[in-house]
Order: sequence, then structure tokens, then C-alpha cells
Amino acid sequence: MNRICNYLLVLFLHSVFISTLSAQQRMHKNFDDDWKFSLGHAADATKDFNFTIANIFSKTGRATGTAIDPRFNDSSWRTLQLPHDWAVELPFENSPNEDVMAHGYKPVGGLYPQNSIGWYRKHFTVSHADSGQRFEIQFDGIFRDSKIWINGFYLGNNASGYSGVSYDITDYLRFDRENVIVVRADASQYEGWFYEGAGIYRHVWLNKYNNLHFARNSIFIYSNVQNNATTITVEATITNRNVDAANGKLTNIITDREGRVVARSTPQNISLTSGETKTIRQQLIVHNPLLWSPEAPYLYRVVPVITCGNTTVDSENIRIGVRTIKIDATGLYVNGQYTKIKGVNCHQDHAGVGSALPDYLQYYRVRLLKEMGVNAYRTSHNPPTPELLDACDSLGLLVLDENRLLNSSPEYINQLERLIMRDRNRASVFMWSIGNEEGAAQTNSNGKRIAQTLLAKQKELDPTRASTYAADLGNVFKGINEVIPVRGFNYRIEGVDAYHKDHPSQPIVGTEMGSTVTTRGIYKKDSVIGYVPDEDITYPWWANTAEQWWTLAADRPWWMGGFVWTGLDYRGEPTPFQWPNINSHFGIMDMCGFPKNIYYYYQSWWSNKDVLHISPHWNWKGKEGTPINVWVNSNASTVELFLNGKSVGKKDMPRNKHLEWNIPYEPGTLEAVAFKDGRKITTKIETTDAPYQIVVTPSKTTMLADGADADVINISVVDKQGREVPDADNLIHFSIKGDMKIIGVGNGDPSSHEPDKCAADAWQRHLFNGRCQVIVQSGRHNDKVKFEATAEGLLPGSTDLNTVQPVPPKSAMP
Ligand code: GAL
Repeated sequence: MNRICNYLLVLFLHSVFISTLSAQQRMHKNFDDDWKFSLGHAADATKDFNFTIANIFSKTGRATGTAIDPRFNDSSWRTLQLPHDWAVELPFENSPNEDVMAHGYKPVGGLYPQNSIGWYRKHFTVSHADSGQRFEIQFDGIFRDSKIWINGFYLGNNASGYSGVSYDITDYLRFDRENVIVVRADASQYEGWFYEGAGIYRHVWLNKYNNLHFARNSIFIYSNVQNNATTITVEATITNRNVDAANGKLTNIITDREGRVVARSTPQNISLTSGETKTIRQQLIVHNPLLWSPEAPYLYRVVPVITCGNTTVDSENIRIGVRTIKIDATGLYVNGQYTKIKGVNCHQDHAGVGSALPDYLQYYRVRLLKEMGVNAYRTSHNPPTPELLDACDSLGLLVLDENRLLNSSPEYINQLERLIMRDRNRASVFMWSIGNEEGAAQTNSNGKRIAQTLLAKQKELDPTRASTYAADLGNVFKGINEVIPVRGFNYRIEGVDAYHKDHPSQPIVGTEMGSTVTTRGIYKKDSVIGYVPDEDITYPWWANTAEQWWTLAADRPWWMGGFVWTGLDYRGEPTPFQWPNINSHFGIMDMCGFPKNIYYYYQSWWSNKDVLHISPHWNWKGKEGTPINVWVNSNASTVELFLNGKSVGKKDMPRNKHLEWNIPYEPGTLEAVAFKDGRKITTKIETTDAPYQIVVTPSKTTMLADGADADVINISVVDKQGREVPDADNLIHFSIKGDMKIIGVGNGDPSSHEPDKCAADAWQRHLFNGRCQVIVQSGRHNDKVKFEATAEGLLPGSTDLNTVQPVPPKSAMP
């Protein structure tokens, strides 16, 4: 009976709501298309479009002769679509400079003034019919130190390469005439010690809303989960930019995933004088909500609405997860359930595209991690792009959301503020990180005081979460660790037990763990070319193998688990080598997301899949009779290996470890037979013949024809019998017929200097140990597209791809 009443009530509220609200919505329009781009110059103003020669700040509009001037002719500049990273387009350059090395040997930064300034211009019109509305330009991330103008008027400077920035542009618009936005990005100065990219590498949006509106990122939603009745609190800040006072009503609606209303607040009268800003708090009850967790990431939508009479004047649509997070000295609890963090650190770049990832790649990468059994992601060492968090919310990963720099100056407090206000409604974000390895401050009283100031700011903006700090300190308490609510350990795991004994009430998390360096498909260290063996063996002095850290953390319940350094390889930090090595070896997967052997170690003990994996490959021509060190990763109880049908021994699989055999090489088949929970599992590797045919494996075959969707196409080769050839290195050429384009290629080789970007009709890449990857982006027409891969001496491979028109976005209204 009760359920029927609830259902009828929901139907009633839904229909009342729909019929009383007409559909005027705030506009959030993607602004990525049709930007003009040119490099400027950091050391020669004449090559920097006279920037600093012309006095642009003496009088408004005095930008004559510069690229800031709206009349500037940019027709010779390149036209491109954002996101864009100009650093990835540059060739690699050997340099003795450590920062150039750490940034992946791309010639950007102070030593390369000719490559370190990027100018972007965009022309657009706004209809006079909209002249009563407010307009805002929103940049989600520009690397870095950007200065922004509209129609010659200076808007501001955003020093950060990772925090987004928005400007109200209402006063400067020219209706029914051309407007020009100009951005000068200055990447001369690095912010991190890893590849950072350059340019407008995240999305840009044009927002339009009423003079009476929700203030930017002001809405804060949190829940108090009770058995069957959960209270959702919505705090919304409303601003009246009308010249007169404004009266209206505020209503909050919560819908489920299908758009059904599950709660609605009583409309509350609001009254604001001109220029006034008010924060209003409402509470709604949701009965028996479906809880969000990494395993079941259920999302509700909160729709705060401002109405005047029968008109909606502003509304937002915010995805939330209802869930509880508790962190104490005994560990982490998600919805009351003890949860061990099986996490990874990642930087933001990917093969082919640098730091300018199409949204689809965020989902692709998060899916790869989930497949492996990962449940958490640390955004080392900077605020992530919102689309990464969209993927983590939707697919279910806990996120440790990290601030760029530990500093309490106004600039950095402001960056922390922007991070927290942007991300505090995210289901995935379970904890903040206020910084990482600040050697100059972490053990002294400056560090402690800065941390206290940042922690106070965090609590003010988000009292629902805790913070950690990533310290490379072992058993050291002095400084930041004295005041940080959750102690973060970067490596130095030999100090964890002693630290816990001395500070038993402080929760402990591994912020950077493991860090084995491996090169996919390589089984011998080669310091000249810069390769390390693809097994859990080699690690820098400060780090550990996967097995060393996980065997310790797994058996200590108070140790919350941790984040491996790293999930995927990234450009820069070629530890333990230098040139010709241009990217890291820390990844459990390579730059393309192809698994290395260590992947199967983590998957064995982190996922509940059946895992049985043999390495290395079995193509050791010329090594007949030589003992090969064979590793088996599995979560079975016993494993027996058979070489060409003959047993070479059966072993029990120790928990959280791996098995090894030394087997004299003999071509043929090496098979593993394992038993898990009484079930038989088998796998085999075989000696293959020479490559014969190309195999093209797209991650999907249908894309949206929105000009932004993307696909990942993986390439391998098989021999005549259809067996994948694991050590093939053929040069493969790619072409596309139809409305689609290739935007990048990669192969995971950490020492490859082949370009990620090729000329339009000359896309190519060598296979590296049997694999390479192509990233394609859709056009705007419904189309059947043919993607083809060819190579000398091999049968070609191809795939058909379709694009379909996106379904028009549903109204923000439930
Ligand atoms: C840590 C640092 C990471 C990365 C890593 C490489 O000290 O926090 O950003 O540099 O070392 O081992």
C-alpha cells in the first residue's frame, strides 16, 4: 500500500512539476570548434605579435598591432578543434637539462622560447535576442599562465595549468556582430616534473544564464544516509544581477537515473535586492536510495530550479551518488563496508594525443583500470579534467583528488578553493590530497602551518571529507604529518609498521606504492636503448616491487591499501634511464594501455576474475636448450606447466605472490593447467611463425557523429595459423575513408621517437612487441567509414565504423 502511495505521489509531483515549468534553461554550450592557432615567441616580441611592445594596458582597446586587437587578421593561422596540445606535436629533442628530460624531451619551456607561447583566437556571434542574459566563458584547463581578452578587453590571467577559470563576458559582447576571444598561453615555466602538454588542452564552454542565477559552482549537495530515509541537503547560492530586486521561488528536485522524480522540496520564496547574493539550504528525503559504490555506481540527479511565476529562470542538473565514506584508524568504509584501496596514480597524457584527450579516452582508460581490479585513482599531482571524474562517477572508481601545490598564498588557496568547489558533489571523490612530497616544507613548522591553513579551508568548503598529504618520509611525524588527518606514505614502506605503532589513531594510506619499472614485452635490461625487463623485478632505490608492498598492505587491515605508481606509463620521467628514453616505465600498462606482465599480478589479487597468465612469450628462436625464466601469475590454488605435453612441475600458488620455473627452451606449446575452487582453468603460449596478417581491433564500432567522439583501434599481427605474434615490429600504415579522422598513434615503446601526429595522408607506426594503437575521431555526418591498416609483406586488416547522430540532449528538467 505504502509503495503504491509513494508511486502515485511521485507521478503527481512529476506532472505538476512538468506542467508548471516552461523550458528556459541555462545554456552550457561546447566552444571547442574553429579556433585559430599560432605559436608566438617568449623572447622576441616581434614574433609574439608585438605583445609587450604595444602598450595594451594604458587604455582600454589599445591593442593595435597585436593579436589581441579584434581587427587582427588571423586568416593565415591554423584552424583547429580543442582540446589541443601543441607540445605533443613537436619532435623530441635531446637535452642535458633535467626538466626537459622529466617533461619527455619535448622542446617546450624556458630553453625553447620559440615553442613556448601559443596564441588562440575564436570568432563568434551572439544574437541580439539574448541581450538581456548573462554570458560567461569557461576554460576547463589551459597549460599555462594564460591571459585572456574579449573584443580587446582584458579579462584576466590564470597562472595554473590545471585549475579551470571562468569570466563573465556580458559587458563586452557585441550582439549580432563578430566577437573575438583571444588567449595567450605561456608554457615557458613548468609546474610539475612530468609531461604537462601545452595549450588549451581541456574543453571551453560558453554559458548563458539569467540575471537571477545560481552562482558558479556554488551548489553543494551532501547526504545523511539513514536506513530507509536519507536526507539530501542542497545548499545553493543565488545571485541577483538585475538592476531591480527579484522575487522567485527555489525548488530542488531529485530524480533517479531514469529521470523519475524521487524527491521534491517545497518551493521556497526568495527575494533578493539588486546585486544581492544569498545561500539557501533545503533538505529532501529519499526513501531507500540505491547507494553508489565502485561496484554499483548508481547516480541520482539533483535539479535546483529558480522560478519566477511560471517561468524557470535558472536550473542546474548535477549528478550525485548517495553513499557514506568513513575513514578511521581501522581503515576505509564505503557504505559501512570495509574497503581496501586497490588504487593507481595516473598522469593525464595518453599515446597519440598528449594531454588533449577526447572524452572517450577517459572512459577507455578508467575501464582498463576497472578490468584489472582497480577501485581507486589518485589524480597525481593536479586537479583533473572534469571528464575523468565523469568517468569515475559513472563507472565506479574512488578518487583521491589532488591539489597541485602545498602553499597557502592567495593564489594557491584560490586554486584549492576552485578544486573543492568544482568537485565536492562528485560521488567518486572520497578524499582530498593537499599536496605531494614538498621537501622544503614537509618536516618543518612552515609545512605544518601551511597544511593547517589548507585543511581549515578544505573543512570550510567541504566538511564531509578528510584530507591526506603524500609524504616520502617513512616513520617521520614532525611537520605536516602532525596535523594531517590521514597519513599518506609515498614508498618507504619499511617505516609503516613503526609509524602505526607510534601513532595508532592516525589512519594510514599508501599514496605511492610499488613502482616496478618494466618495458612491455622486453626480457633483458638494455641501458643503451633504455629498456627494463617486463617482470616484477626492477625498482628505484626509494620504491618496491608490487609483491613487496602488496603482501605487506594486504595483511594489515589498518593499512587502508594504496595507489601504485602508476596505472599507465606517461611521457617524461624515464627512470632509470635518460635519452633516448622519452617516457616512464612505471606503468602497469604502457602509454597505450596495453598490459605489461605485472598487470596480471595485480589482476590476480585485486579482481575476482579467473587469472592464469604465463610470461614471457615463447618465440626464442636460436635459444633452443637455454633455460627460460617463466613466470605464472594466477589466483588459482595450484598450477602445473606442460611443455609440448610433458609436465614440467606442479606448484601451489602462494597468496599474493607468483610462481616461477626455469624451463630449457624448446619451440612448441607451453601450457598451464590450474585449479581454482575445484575448477580447471587452462592457458597456453605458443611459438609462432612469421607475421602474416594485420588484425584491427576497434574498442567499439559505432560512434556519435558529433565531431568529438573517439575510438581506440588496437593493431596486432597474426601468423598463418592465426596466432598473435608477440615480438613483431612491422611498420603499419593507416587510412580512413569517410567522415572521420585519425588524431594520434602510439605503440608503448618508451624509446620510440616516431611522431604521435602524422600528416593527413601519412599516418603510420611501427608495432612495438606486437602492438600499436590508433586513435580516431568522428566527423559530423552519419557515415559508414572504412579504416584500413596495411604493411609491406602482410595481408591488410580493416574494420567498418559507423557514426550516428547523437540523440538531442534531454531537457535538464526531469
Ligand atoms: C615520487 C613523485 C612522483 C614520481 C615518482 C617517481 O617521488 O611523487 O611524482 O616522480 O616519485 O618515482
